[in-house]
Amino acid sequence: MSCFIIEGGEKVKGEITVQGSKNGTLPLLSAVLLTQGKNVLYGCPQLSDVTSALKILTYLGCKTEHKNGTAVIDCTDAWRCDIPDFLMREMRSSVVFLGALLARFGKAELSAPGGCEIGLRPIDLHIEAMKALGAEVNESGGRIFFACPQGLHATRITLSFPSVGATENIILASCTAKGETVIVNAAREPEIIELAHFLNRCGAKIKGAGESVIYIEGTDKLYPCEHTVEQDRIAAVTFMAAAAVTGGEIFLNGLHQGLLMPVLEPFKESGCTVKADANGVHLIAPKRLRRIKTVRTMPYPGFPTDSQADFAVMASVAEGTSVIVENIFENRFKYIAELNKMGACARAEGRVAVIEGVKRLESARVEATDLRAGSALVAAALNARGSTVVDGVAYIDRGYESLEVQLKRLGAKIKRGV
Ligand code: UD1
Repeated sequence: MSCFIIEGGEKVKGEITVQGSKNGTLPLLSAVLLTQGKNVLYGCPQLSDVTSALKILTYLGCKTEHKNGTAVIDCTDAWRCDIPDFLMREMRSSVVFLGALLARFGKAELSAPGGCEIGLRPIDLHIEAMKALGAEVNESGGRIFFACPQGLHATRITLSFPSVGATENIILASCTAKGETVIVNAAREPEIIELAHFLNRCGAKIKGAGESVIYIEGTDKLYPCEHTVEQDRIAAVTFMAAAAVTGGEIFLNGLHQGLLMPVLEPFKESGCTVKADANGVHLIAPKRLRRIKTVRTMPYPGFPTDSQADFAVMASVAEGTSVIVENIFENRFKYIAELNKMGACARAEGRVAVIEGVKRLESARVEATDLRAGSALVAAALNARGSTVVDGVAYIDRGYESLEVQLKRLGAKIKRGV
């Protein structure tokens, strides 16, 4: 597995056009299954998770092509409705094929999905929702079989937690179900809005995406379309954090300020100046970051769990003590031990981390324990004195397009090693 070798101390400075969103793209790569003909996704990021999703589509019988940021997917000849174990294990998002497979074929077969090791990630909400829509579910030998011989039927589903993936699966499954499906306590993330927008352009009738109640009126048929993927709000925060911990300055070209709404206040609290206009978002770091009193991760529009590690790194070099409370996943502080190897003064117990800022981090050999922990450790290394090695880059490649190339353009001293 490759590593990043980072010489800390250079300011992260300059302009960047953030890649297309990973979490936005993956449900779209499932949505295309609802159509026959060629779909085109512009700004489709070159990520290993995207490659895994395209492999699933190819396995199902679709024609796929992904070159220079454009993915062309033709699902006309899709014929399989099962996803084998080895493809399911590659990423958590493989479960988001469930709704589309059921809608298209009236059956689906898969196993528990893989993904980052950040605690228990059950799929009970997905399964219960498919049952509510009329699917029969059976499990045997680690495989889960879904069937709806009479077709799915619209219903009202109240989620006990606004799960992003479950909301996406219900939307996908119900676009062509008979009648009106209502999702109560739906996830409100921008990726849900993007999925609904894409599907509506394909002919679906979805109202309320981005709000807690979503209405989906089933239609007979969806048509392929062309779509430009929204920029990645989570990657944007990583670049902002990298600028923040190096005393740098960054302009995020074309990024909508709205996408950063949940993180703007904490950035300001840390002493960063953040300005936004129609052309993008501009962040200027202070000489020394200030503590961010308490960050609590919450479903959107709360603070995103995926940006939690970036803020922990900022807190680790800020003046004063910061607290981070992780409310979404059970085990998302594994990187704290790695950060402490770099001289940070942080303690995590259960869902709470307390971080006392030090002036500057020190170099060390550290391990990316999951995707976002990995990119945050890279930001930490950019601050650190000396040469840091971040192992486990395969995790980072799941969500960042050649992170080292992008950071190098912004003045960082970083290279990929083996
Ligand atoms: C998505 C994002 C991920 C982000 C997360 C929360 C993608 C590809 N991934 O993941 O980056 O960190 O939202 O914003 O978009 N849960 C259950 N049962 C279920 C489903 C979920 O208990 O059936 C729990 C999970 O274990 C977790 C919480 O709900 O504790 C949030 O999960 P969910 O919103 O479903 O996240 P994902 O869709 O997996």
